[in-house]
Formats: sequence, C-alpha cells, structure tokens
Amino acid sequence: MPKRTNNKPKLKIKTKQKKVKTYGLPEDSSEFSIADETATYGKQQLFKTYYKNEEPYIRLLKGDCVEILNKVGENRVDMIFADPPYFLSNGGITCHAGKMVSVNKGKWDKSKGAKENHEFTKKWLEACQKVLKPNGTIWVSGTTHIIYAVGFAMQELGYKILNDIIWYKRNAPPNLSCRYFTHSTEIVLWAAKNEKSKHYFDYKLMKKTNNDKQMRNVWEMSAPQAEEKKFGKHPTQKPVELLKRIIQASTKKDDLVLDPFCGSSTTGVAAVLLNRKYVGIDLEEEYLDVSRKRLEDTINKPALHKVANKQSV
Ligand SMILES: C[S@@+](CC[C@H](N)C(=O)[O-])C[C@H]1O[C@@H](n2cnc3c(N)ncnc32)[C@H](O)[C@@H]1O
Repeated sequence: MPKRTNNKPKLKIKTKQKKVKTYGLPEDSSEFSIADETATYGKQQLFKTYYKNEEPYIRLLKGDCVEILNKVGENRVDMIFADPPYFLSNGGITCHAGKMVSVNKGKWDKSKGAKENHEFTKKWLEACQKVLKPNGTIWVSGTTHIIYAVGFAMQELGYKILNDIIWYKRNAPPNLSCRYFTHSTEIVLWAAKNEKSKHYFDYKLMKKTNNDKQMRNVWEMSAPQAEEKKFGKHPTQKPVELLKRIIQASTKKDDLVLDPFCGSSTTGVAAVLLNRKYVGIDLEEEYLDVSRKRLEDTINKPALHKVANKQSV
C-alpha cells in the first residue's frame, strides 16, 4: 500500500507581536522600568515622576504603589523597606509633646475592616515580592494593628521570615488613659523573597557596631528628633538611625532600595547617606514635597556623607 503523504502546503501563520517598549519609571534606568502602554490607564495617568536625580540615583513617584509595582518588571530591587498605613486613625486620642491630640493621621490611615485591610496588605506584599531580586529582602514596620496580618500574609505568599526586630522607643510618650501599659515598641519584620533566597546580611558590621558582640533583635532608638522634621512634619516619620541600620545590615553600596510608602523619605535620606540608590512612592504630594526637600538637603551636604559612611550605625 502506497504511503499516504500530506502534501498540503504548510501555512506560515504570522502572529502580530506587540513591541513592548520600556517606559522609564526612571526613563533611563534598566533597573526599575515599566511597560510603555501602562504609563496611563485610558486618560488617567498611572503615576507621575515627582522628582528625579542621577547622582546619587533617586526617584520619587506619585501614585498608588500596588498599581505602579504591578507594572514594573520582576527582580529589580535589592531591598524594600515598607512602613504601610497602620490603620489606627480611628478617632481616638494620643499624647504628643505632652499634649492630648487626635490619633488620626489622614484618610490613607483609616481602617476598612479586618478583611479588606488584609486584602490590601496581601496585594502590596505580593507586588513587592515580584519586584524583589531572588536574594532580595523586605523589611516591614508595624504595631499590633497590622504586624500579625503582615506576618500571616508573608507566610501565605511564601516569603521566608528572617527576624522580628523589636524597636524599643526610649522616648515613648505616656499613656493618657492609664488603662494600658505604655506603648513603647514597634516590630519590624525582616523577610527574604522566598525559601530559596540566599539573603545578604552584614553580620560583621552589625557586630562591630555593637561593641563587638552579636547584635540582638531588640534595638533601642529614639523617635525622630526635631532636626529630622525641619522641612515639614510627617505624622508617622521614622528615625534616620533606624533606616541606616536596616540598610547597612541588608544591602551593599550601590544597591537599589525601594520604599513603597515613602512618606517623608527617611529611607531615601539613609540610602543617600550610605551610597545606595533609592526609589520612593507615595500617594500624597504634600509628603513627596517634604521628601524632595530632605533628599536635596542630604545631597547638598557632601561632608555629612563622608561622616555617615565612616560611622557605624
Ligand atoms: C506610615 S507612612 C510612612 C512614613 C515614612 N516611613 C516616613 O519616615 O516618613 C505611610 C505613607 O504611605 C502613603 N500611602 C498610603 N497608601 C498608599 C498607597 N496605596 N500607595 C502609595 N503610598 C501610600 C501615605 O501617604 C503615607 O505617607
């Protein structure tokens, strides 16, 4: 029996391949870029580059961090510090500079209920996990209001939790109601992208800066001093000292540090002082303005850089 052959001419199917240009999140950086067509959603702009500087490398982006990070390519960032909303703006009171004041920080800090808050936490943690390099790490600060949910979301997403740092605030304000112990700590969770990550830790430097003893996970540091707020106040500003230690412990010179909830850019100030690259994202122009002023002030103090680089944490 003759062999049946298929003599049908082979059709060459041309598939239309859309060329995806990368659009600068900084325009000129290959490290942190976004697909061109996603820079805008219809007529609505997804983000705005609020401020940029080449040397040292700094980008401040105005927009929602989840939307922005979801459009950024994978494996771009060496380290993330995230100080997200703690959802404690519930109309209560607190003590500030010896006075009774409202605890409310802003619309961005209002709780939407446990379920919705957790969904948000998971969304931004997922977006961060994607942009982290395989051996990159993330630090997330929080109080009881969110930190357990953050830890649970990290476990759900397959992060590898490395440490829980207890930041003890030696200058914590008193408790006005006298019905609770005085709150004087925050927790900072440190996690690697996943179980396979070979995370970086400058063990030697941490030991050296701790009188040659292994550094423990309880860090005693004051809340930021007035000098750190001279360009405007952010209601939940972190001390530069805390961020310097975090950056020195987990990054190398020239690494790229991202802060998705940058506020007044404490992370950026510490990154510039330590010769790291920095990308900060925030929704509010008011805070980005404080960020810009603080960063420019830091850039314009070269003598301070040298001191900060020689100094330990
Ligand atoms: C806890 S504060 C960060 C303070 C900062 N660590 C500092 O030292 O100034 C949180 C910041 O996240 C911003 N924010 C809240 N939701 C956001 C979102 N979805 N995307 C980007 N920024 C957001 C708020 O405007 C606020 O400035």
